[in-house]
Amino acid sequence: MSSDCCCSSKAKSLKKVFSPDSVAIIGASAEPGKIGYQVLNNILKNDFKGKVYPVNRKATEIMGVKCYPSMLEIPGDVDFAVIAVPAPLVEGVMRECAKKNIKGAVVITSGFSEIGKKKEEDVLKEIADQHGIALLGPNTFGFVYTPSNLNASFGPQNVAPGKIAFISQSGALGISLMGWTMMEKIGMASVVSLGNKADIGEKELIEYFNDDPNVSVILIYMEGIKNGREFMTTKLKKPVVILKSGSSSRGAQAAASHTGSLAGSDKIYTAAFNQLGMIRARTFTQAFGAASALSMPLPKGSDAVIITNGGGIGVSATDECENAGIKMVDDHEWLEAKFRSTMPDFGSTKNPIDVTGGGGREGYQKAVRVALAEDRIHAVIVLYCETAVLDPVDVAKAVIEEYNAVKRNKPLVVTMVGGERSRQAIQILNEHQIPAMTEVLEAVSGLKALYTWQEISSRPKEVAVAPEIPAKALEIIEAIRKEGRTFLLEHESRKVLEICGVPMPKWGFARTADEAVKVAEATKMYPIAMKIASVDIIHKSDVGGVILNVKNAEELKAKFAQMMETVKKNAPKANLLGVNLCQMVDGLQCIVGMNKDPQFGPAVMFGLGGIFVEVLKDVSFRIVPFSEGEAQRLVGEIKARKLLDGYRGQGAHKASIIKTLMAVQKIAAHVKEVDINPLITNKDGSYAVDARIII
Ligand code: COA
Repeated sequence: MSSDCCCSSKAKSLKKVFSPDSVAIIGASAEPGKIGYQVLNNILKNDFKGKVYPVNRKATEIMGVKCYPSMLEIPGDVDFAVIAVPAPLVEGVMRECAKKNIKGAVVITSGFSEIGKKKEEDVLKEIADQHGIALLGPNTFGFVYTPSNLNASFGPQNVAPGKIAFISQSGALGISLMGWTMMEKIGMASVVSLGNKADIGEKELIEYFNDDPNVSVILIYMEGIKNGREFMTTKLKKPVVILKSGSSSRGAQAAASHTGSLAGSDKIYTAAFNQLGMIRARTFTQAFGAASALSMPLPKGSDAVIITNGGGIGVSATDECENAGIKMVDDHEWLEAKFRSTMPDFGSTKNPIDVTGGGGREGYQKAVRVALAEDRIHAVIVLYCETAVLDPVDVAKAVIEEYNAVKRNKPLVVTMVGGERSRQAIQILNEHQIPAMTEVLEAVSGLKALYTWQEISSRPKEVAVAPEIPAKALEIIEAIRKEGRTFLLEHESRKVLEICGVPMPKWGFARTADEAVKVAEATKMYPIAMKIASVDIIHKSDVGGVILNVKNAEELKAKFAQMMETVKKNAPKANLLGVNLCQMVDGLQCIVGMNKDPQFGPAVMFGLGGIFVEVLKDVSFRIVPFSEGEAQRLVGEIKARKLLDGYRGQGAHKASIIKTLMAVQKIAAHVKEVDINPLITNKDGSYAVDARIII
């Protein structure tokens, strides 16, 4: 069976997991406090419309529902089973389920790969694959799917219906957030606990929810990924917000190159999420804020207004908007003409539109009406600081009324700061699918998520194909590998990279002073940087093996002799092969590299290079293969991007940087690490001034 075929059959089976006609609960119990009791109770109390079959060896009836001693005794078909029996019994139960031809199973039971029992878990996966069963878990709390009123979990009984699908790798966090969303009245289409991901993981669920009309946003809480390369093949059709915990740098410590030491798993995960077009959140409130905002209409432009009753909170929202790159409408005359009538004389129309404490419900309502009516305004942020003169619930009702009157025509987010009444106002707004939060930052980052998704969904579709390495470059690498060497010398690294298409300054390699002059004269290389070439010398400058700024033939000859003599004195045992010559170039120092991540495989890095690299660590990654568009986004992602755009006389040749990134991809499959540090870039081009390849 091809993997495609397998995926599509699993997707079909997932339909029967979320919307089954019949459910069996194996391990259903009449004993309150047991998981088998809670699951059955949740299914029965949530008005699930399909057939429910409790399975228990002893009981004939539980909670008024007829019970069966085994799966095989149930009359007729069963679509889906929840399994909550002790671990040693799960395999037998799965085999019975397979005989019964079920399409999906959730194994709640713990005691598998999470405690080292991988083989026992693999058996469950095998049964699932052989019989086309979509298997969730083991070691999961189950799931809730509100469109079919199915709560197949031992979590809280209710979840407010909505359009967000929440996939959680942590059971405990998933359960607790079910309660939290209920309290905040954030509507959910689904909450799924992934458990050990023996079969169904993030990729399968994202691709399933992609085509589920009941879901508009997918939110994932992730601790780690089992197979990064497979994860990179996930297709996105809907916004995905991702909250990832755990950013260890253990992997980075073992790496030998700059690139390796800068990678660290979190940077690679960030690369993966960016490349897939997922929106990363840093806290769960931010994640839910973004997910709620992403169910709003997309903005038709970049200009926002803030409506507030407090100056301070308005300024803080303005700051957050600036940080998030959200533009504020700043035509003060126009704003004055439109908003003056919404506020007392002492109010301000200078965006933030400050209706002040004297604005009242009417002021808020009018200001929101204007903001929603004017096409020049593309997004609205409503802030309210609770006062004794205006009830926040009244403000919420006014916002809902106006928003519904214009049929939710543009994005609108709300922040309410205050006590109990503000909390109630937030709940009412959320119930009406208006994202409302207690923090300005969350409201603004919610809006920002919407803009980000708009940009992501407008990207041209590009297929990233791993480029082939040119035969000549591979020949060089293989010859060195045969020699038993683990690294290429500078001139060998240069040769390989040049063949692949990395732009080089004028460069050469010379064994003698005469040869050096010949090479330099032929290419008009001056001024030149000279570096000793020896397999035995790693820190060249420590032994006098680096001389810069050599201006002419005479100097070159003299410096060649001087370098050989000094290095021989400082490193008498080293075998000196000759000298690398390289034209000196001016410009901005960048770094390009490649290393291999244990989960995601080869990843290419770009950032600020030279002496900045260790201090600022301003670098970003992309997983190989990536498209040219992705390489462009990588370059635009570093914090120092303004320098690349030509800030204060600096400037970069972006096309040749992109060319370098695309070229490095070609050798990714054949070597361990690559460092081009620095890659010097100026307005005329980019130049790999130093290069190192480890195989
Ligand atoms: N067919 C039908 N019923 C069976 C059965 C079988 N093959 N084997 C056992 N049962 C019945 C039991 O008789 C019992 O019913 P009872 O209460 O009427 O006696 C019920 O199923 C449960 O079995 P029991 O042996 O009492 O187990 P338990 O309820 O103590 O524990 C689990 C079962 C699955 C809950 C437990 O093993 C477990 O894994 N707990 C952790 C779950 C978890 O935390 N998951 C991850 C969340 S993130």
